[in-house]
Amino acid sequence: MPTPHNNAKKGDIAKTVLMPGDPLRAKFIAENYLEDAVCYNEVRGMLGFTGKYKGVTVSVQGSGMGVPSMGIYSWELFNEYDVENIIRIGTAGAIADNVQLRDIVIAMSTSTNSAYASQYRLPGTYAPTASWKLLSNAADAAKAKGSTFHVGNILTSDTFYDDADSLAEWRKMGVLAIEMETAALYMNAARAAKNALCILTVSDCPLKGESTSAEERQTSFREMMEIALETAVRL
Ligand code: HPA
Repeated sequence: MPTPHNNAKKGDIAKTVLMPGDPLRAKFIAENYLEDAVCYNEVRGMLGFTGKYKGVTVSVQGSGMGVPSMGIYSWELFNEYDVENIIRIGTAGAIADNVQLRDIVIAMSTSTNSAYASQYRLPGTYAPTASWKLLSNAADAAKAKGSTFHVGNILTSDTFYDDADSLAEWRKMGVLAIEMETAALYMNAARAAKNALCILTVSDCPLKGESTSAEERQTSFREMMEIALETAVRL
């Protein structure tokens, strides 16, 4: 059944979905890595494709930016389309000193300033966590590629332009990098008893005022896409 945000029919979407924030990155992956890719969604330009990578059927769909957008699309994939595994691939700002431009960060867990968890009415603070199988597959794939990667806690922020300028506080707690979607993904996965992982490439260092060029972003994005695709193949 199509949803208000997705035209796909049940069965159009694979059990494993890669989700870049930018729908044009989804198109890029479909065109450059998938065989026989078919577009299943164009609603709001949030393109989704299903095809084969090394013989395994995978889908790739944009999530949009921020917790609410990821919240909607990943909830529908898990609960309306029987998706089992979602791997977010995106960019992040470095927070920890040892995280450099173009490094890969695999989010074992995510801290957040979002109120997304309040819907679950828990009597405490929930810790959004990756699925071990996806996490260990991704670490194996990153090792096999020889990538420079870090595994640990990230920050999912509701603000890109943040008046409180609080990254140094998160750095004190060992947080590796900042992005804006993973907490919603990990909570939706937990609530639906499904699997999720976030793999990030560091596009900027807000504390040092550094950022990658468009060309560097493209190259490091390819490295992350390949780690995510290999993670899917290892399932
Ligand atoms: N903040 C939030 N999200 C991001 C950043 C950032 O500095 N860089 C890439 N995604």
